[in-house]
Amino acid sequence: MTAAEALRLAVPRLHSAGVEGAARDARVLLAHALGIAPDRLTLHLPDEMTEPQAVIYEAALAAREARRPVAQITGKRLFWGLPFRVTRDTLDPRPETEALVAEALARPFLKVLDLGTGTGCILLSCLKGMPMARGVGVDLSPAALTVAAGNARDLGLEDRARFLESDWFAKVGGAFDLIVSNPPYIAAAEMPGLAPEVRDWEPHLALTPGGDGLDAYRAIARGAGARLMPGGRILVETGPTQGPAVAGLFRQAGLGEVRILPDMDGRDRVVAAVKPGAADRCGCA
Ligand SMILES: C[S@@+](CC[C@H](N)C(=O)[O-])C[C@H]1O[C@@H](n2cnc3c(N)ncnc32)[C@H](O)[C@@H]1O
Repeated sequence: MTAAEALRLAVPRLHSAGVEGAARDARVLLAHALGIAPDRLTLHLPDEMTEPQAVIYEAALAAREARRPVAQITGKRLFWGLPFRVTRDTLDPRPETEALVAEALARPFLKVLDLGTGTGCILLSCLKGMPMARGVGVDLSPAALTVAAGNARDLGLEDRARFLESDWFAKVGGAFDLIVSNPPYIAAAEMPGLAPEVRDWEPHLALTPGGDGLDAYRAIARGAGARLMPGGRILVETGPTQGPAVAGLFRQAGLGEVRILPDMDGRDRVVAAVKPGAADRCGCA
């Protein structure tokens, strides 16, 4: 069978399984099976598929019919222009999280702490953009930390990134001029309404802290002052309706210059704050 014929059969299958963007996903998975970049696919559509390619494509389609996310099937996701390995133990990095990275890189920093690092996408993108900086990525999931460490190696950042199993700040020492986090923030009541790709396949620990969805921000707000240098910044991603509540938690914790920033779609996405006090001696906070 040619790749074009396989693609023609795949699209209605994914469509019947309720996959949004069935044609796009069928193409990405076909490129994965052929071992080529998706933008090269058109060139290869007339080619006969080999038996191993057909087997890989069939397995990928079956997984997608079961609503497994494409990034978990291909094992990779491009974030901030960098390739990240993604597994069932990590959140699939979302494009809206790039708003947090852009804000982090808007000012210099030397020591960054990423709370709930997952694939390491925020920490490693920040380090790529700030060549003098070093950083620590923290997660409660040892399996996610293994993926993050692998991504650091693949990106040539292993000398500047360290990973630590910790419940938020519990095992973190020292002081940082930047703290970043995209913590779990979905309220317990919202979990049943999520798309199957998220609800059934992404790690529960990465999605929700339970309750009203704000518990991780409460823990982070409580601990941030002790780990930020005077003048240091904290940036957290939030759900689009959570900005004012998280801004309130930061103000109550004694943080200043609290701002709510939008993502590329204009929705509230990042809450930024600063620890009051003089900037550190290098002037980098
Ligand atoms: C929403 S995911 C974000 C992952 C990654 N930073 C990103 O933006 O794609 C939240 C991460 O926080 C981690 N996490 C959840 N509870 C935690 C806790 N108490 N302490 C540390 N990390 C935690 C999860 O394992 C998950 O990797």
